[in-house]
Amino acid sequence: MKPSVETLAISDSIRVLKERKNAIILAHYYQTPEIQEVADVVGDSLQMAQHAAQSTADIIVVAGVYFMAETAKILNPTRKVLLPDLSAGCSLADSCPPEQFKEFIKAYPGSPVVTYINCSAEIKAMSDVVCTSSNAVKVINSIQTDKPIIFAPDVNLGRYLIQQTGRDMILWDGSCIVHENFSIDKILDLHAAYPDAKFIAHPESQPHILRIASYIGSTKGMIDFVKRDHHHQYIVATEAGILYQMQKEVPHKLLIPAPSFEDNACSCSECPYMKLNSLEKLEACLADETPEVHVAQPIRNKAVLALDAMLMQTV
Ligand code: 13P
Ligand code: SF4
Repeated sequence: MKPSVETLAISDSIRVLKERKNAIILAHYYQTPEIQEVADVVGDSLQMAQHAAQSTADIIVVAGVYFMAETAKILNPTRKVLLPDLSAGCSLADSCPPEQFKEFIKAYPGSPVVTYINCSAEIKAMSDVVCTSSNAVKVINSIQTDKPIIFAPDVNLGRYLIQQTGRDMILWDGSCIVHENFSIDKILDLHAAYPDAKFIAHPESQPHILRIASYIGSTKGMIDFVKRDHHHQYIVATEAGILYQMQKEVPHKLLIPAPSFEDNACSCSECPYMKLNSLEKLEACLADETPEVHVAQPIRNKAVLALDAMLMQTV
C-alpha cells in the first residue's frame, strides 16, 4: 500500500529532526511499515542492542518497547535514550517481578542465572549473562557448571533450550501474550489450504506449536531462513510486523501470518505494546527530546556486566 501524503510529510519531518539532532532510530521488526521506513536500523533484539552499544549519536530513539530502551541506556549511558511511549511495556518482562525473582534465585545457591533480554533492568542486574532468541543456545552451551542453570522469564524458550542443549535448567514461568496466542487448529486448517507452505515459528511459542515447525528461530533467524530456503510459501508464527521486512527480502515468495485464537478479519498476531508507537509519537519525541529512559546507576552497573557477557560471545 502506498503511504499517504500525511505519512510522507511526517516521515520527512522525522528525517530532518534526526539529521539536525544527530539522532538515530533503532526499530524492531514488529514496528509498523512506516516506522521501519524512517528507522536507521531495523532488527531483532540482538541487533538493536549491538547498534545501541556502538552508537555515537547524541540521541538514540528506540522504536520498540521499554526493556529495549533500558537495554540501550545500560549499554550506552552517556547518550540520551528516548522511547516514544513510556507505556510500551512487555507481558513477558512484566511476568517476572524483581522481588519474586530475587526469592526464586535464592532457593538455588550457586546456580548461574541466564535471562532472556525481554526483562527489566533489575532482573538483568541479578543475572550472570543475558541472551536473546538469536544466541540463547550458544549462551547456554557456553556455561560451565555442575549446578542447574536458572533461566527467566520465558518458559517456552526455556523448554526449547532444554531440548536443544540437554542442560539441567530451572525455568521461571513467564510468557509472551502474542506467542501464546497461536491456535494449532487454525494453523493446521491453514496448512491444509496451503499444503506446500512450510511452517516456521519463534521459540517464544508454546511446545505444541514448535513441534510442528520446520524451522525455529529469532525474528532475524526467520528472515534469514526464508531467504536461503528454496521453498516458496511459508506460514509465519511470530508478530505480524515481521512480514514487512521479510516480504522485502523475498518479494517473490508467499508469506502467510500464522492465525491466533481471535476470530478477527486478518487473524494474525499483533503486539499491543509494540504497536503503541506511531509516526506522530516518534516525531513529537524527537522534537521535544522526551520521554527519556533512565536506569539507576547501581542497577546499571550490574546489568551492564550481564549484557557485556552476552555481547562478548556474539561479536
Ligand atoms: P527477537 O527480535 O529477539 O526475535 O525477539 C522477539 C520479541 O518478542 C521481541 O519482543
Ligand atoms: Fe513482549 Fe511479546 Fe510484545 Fe515481544 S511480542 S514485546 S515478548 S509482549
